[in-house]
Amino acid sequence: MSSTTPNPALPGATGAPLWLLAELTYRCPLQCAYCSNPLEFAAVKEELSTTEWIEVLAQARAMGAVQMGFSGGEPLLRQDLEALVAEAHRLGFYTNLITSGLGLDEARIEALRTAGLDHIQISLQASDADVAAAIAGSRKAHAKKLAMARAVKAAGYPMVLNVVLHRHNIDRLDAIIALCDELGADAVELANCQMYGWAHLNREGLLPSRAQLEAAEATTARWREQLTERGRNMRLLFVVPDYYNERPKACMGGWGAIFMTVAPDGAVLPCHSARMLPMSFPNVREQPLREIWYDSEPFNRYRGDAWMQEPCRSCDERHQDVGGCRCQAYLLTGDAAATDPVCSLSPDHHLVEAARREADTATVEMVDLTLRNVHESRVFCRD
Ligand code: SF4
Ligand code: FES
Repeated sequence: MSSTTPNPALPGATGAPLWLLAELTYRCPLQCAYCSNPLEFAAVKEELSTTEWIEVLAQARAMGAVQMGFSGGEPLLRQDLEALVAEAHRLGFYTNLITSGLGLDEARIEALRTAGLDHIQISLQASDADVAAAIAGSRKAHAKKLAMARAVKAAGYPMVLNVVLHRHNIDRLDAIIALCDELGADAVELANCQMYGWAHLNREGLLPSRAQLEAAEATTARWREQLTERGRNMRLLFVVPDYYNERPKACMGGWGAIFMTVAPDGAVLPCHSARMLPMSFPNVREQPLREIWYDSEPFNRYRGDAWMQEPCRSCDERHQDVGGCRCQAYLLTGDAAATDPVCSLSPDHHLVEAARREADTATVEMVDLTLRNVHESRVFCRD
């Protein structure tokens, strides 16, 4: 089938990718125990060169992609980040840098601004240095992040903070939001960690209990009211963990529907977590992006609804949630084509209910979490 021919297995023609996530590197100065990078990231050695990345950007833009994120690992570890941002800007992408803030300084912020970077999102681990150090494996990171959040705002960007919530920091949400307020944040994403990659490995030590989650939602609601009363414009977005929903999300807007990730070594994935699925993904070093997107078997495998099993196959909601998340289905059931067990109609929903019960009584401390680093990753590398 040529790249211009719609796949007849699909209910409609495949559209162009709108989003490109460029994972520039798996290297990172932090070791977050909830990282969504693959467990075996240490096996990935040869990162795409500057020239190869520029070619990826050009191909993606020519296909119609308009939004792009630079992430990792820590994208600031790439010394060519400014050059790549400049090229993405020249091509007409709206660019977002997703960073820990480590590796940033005022000069680099200015260089990125000059290169045309549209948006910066900095992650925070906690309201205090001790919890941040325990979860990210770095004692110095917290103060640096706070300084860089301020510097980003001083450079004229909106301050957008991302706080990953889990059972060891969610009870301190009040202090976390107060810190974001004090920093002058414009928007805060309170994102409960989703159970992929290293987070899935550490699930028992990360998933909050329902009581913790409900208290956090109440805290967020209280803060929203208070911020409105004060006329303070700080947007709070609270993302519930999938495990506490009764219906799954339409992950990535559907497999191979709008989203494309290019991994540091050029592997092209329908989502940033897909690398752990038992399938091999094409590489931009060997095939043009257009061919990968439209014609490759992995990108077509879960498009449309022909691949669905029951109960999704005959469910009225299948075009809304596309059967949920393929990665979650695989991690929980061993079958990536299964109904996402988050769905209460799934025959495997009991697995999610068991995880919720486990969260009520879990005793895993922060020191017991497996940190995401090269040493731990090697355990999962095949060769
Ligand atoms: Fe969605 Fe499948 Fe559940 Fe129906 S059965 S609501 S399509 S996940
Ligand atoms: Fe991979 Fe949902 S995270 S499909």
